[in-house]
Amino acid sequence: MFDERLIERLGRIDTPFYFYDMELLRSTLSAVKEEADKYKYKVHYAFKANANGPILREIRDFGFGADCVSGFEVRKALETGFDPSKIVFAGVGKADWEIELGIDAGIESFNVESIPELEIIDEIAGEKNRIANIALRLNPNVNANTHHYITTGLEENKFGINQWDLEKVAKVLKRLRNVRFIGIHFHIGSQITDLGSFKDLCLRVNDLQKWFVSNRLYPKVINVGGGLGIDYENPDENSIPDFKAFFELFDEILELNADQEVHFELGRSMVAQCGNLISKVLYVKDGVNTKFAIVDAGMSDLIRPALYQAYHKIENLTSQEGEEKYDVVGPICESSDSFGKAVRIPKARRGDLIAIRSAGAYGEVMASQYNLRRLPLAYYSDDGLF
Ligand code: LLP
Repeated sequence: MFDERLIERLGRIDTPFYFYDMELLRSTLSAVKEEADKYKYKVHYAFKANANGPILREIRDFGFGADCVSGFEVRKALETGFDPSKIVFAGVGKADWEIELGIDAGIESFNVESIPELEIIDEIAGEKNRIANIALRLNPNVNANTHHYITTGLEENKFGINQWDLEKVAKVLKRLRNVRFIGIHFHIGSQITDLGSFKDLCLRVNDLQKWFVSNRLYPKVINVGGGLGIDYENPDENSIPDFKAFFELFDEILELNADQEVHFELGRSMVAQCGNLISKVLYVKDGVNTKFAIVDAGMSDLIRPALYQAYHKIENLTSQEGEEKYDVVGPICESSDSFGKAVRIPKARRGDLIAIRSAGAYGEVMASQYNLRRLPLAYYSDDGLF
């Protein structure tokens, strides 16, 4: 990804910052579109992965919808020009103002996560003399086999309505007058690389669908969420995830009734590989068994390694001298402020440019001002600077 010219240009900018390869973003989005279109699948991009304007505008222009999890994301989707009829709104704790915003905007659907939430949406819609579309988020109790912090589809997780509440929710739905049931929604977790978990999900969906139909509730929309993982180890070799195999699997296993739509909420797989956190080496210092390369980016810029022990490939863009092992750490006053232990990179010196790869998803959006640092800036390959 980084040729000499680009490295030279990146070297002129104050570090740390995020750099987005917009060509790669567009190729990824067109791969998603091409494969999803084969089955008329609809994709709502999960805003939580990255909500930068230039990225959202590309996604909007490809015709994808928006999957939002806060009123702020719904607002951003509307401001960016996403069609309200393509905005879905999920989350276990929607505040009243967020529900009002969604109803006023006429969004496609609320993905409802509990019976009390369903009743409040009905109440607020009633006060406004409106009918709110809702999909029920069901907890499928399927294991996503990923990091436990990003597993969401198990009964022990806070998300969705559990099996034992189904009878009750069906009764409540039939009583409520200001909500329209349009579908069922699932999401089992994130960074899922074993397609077998999605197969398990499809089988559960097939079962649950039958239950709904036999209870005279017809889900027009089957929303299977997001979660497709990316290859953090080989960002250049596998820069675009295998969307073909992913959508094919759903086509093979999901049993659909006439007129049903299948929706997806992909986040990471659409934006992760196009983003990199660019940093500079401040100091190299000897440790007991190791050498530290202290860089000017920290966990406030990219928290995934500290929070989930996540792996991000680290490259020294400046040096080609023989490889050495370093603990690559940031300046923040926490031992967890580390991007990788015993990382092999070409010999590092003060001023070397370091790229932390595959950081386009859940990178910048999770940045904080811890230690009163400034939020990282973002640059885009088609800025004119490159
Ligand atoms: N739909 C729902 C309801 C979700 O909760 C999520 C992600 C997605 C879709 C998008 O999933 P994706 O396609 O991006 O896997 N901060 C963590 C990831 C948290 C994911 C939360 N939910 C990380 O850095 O790995």
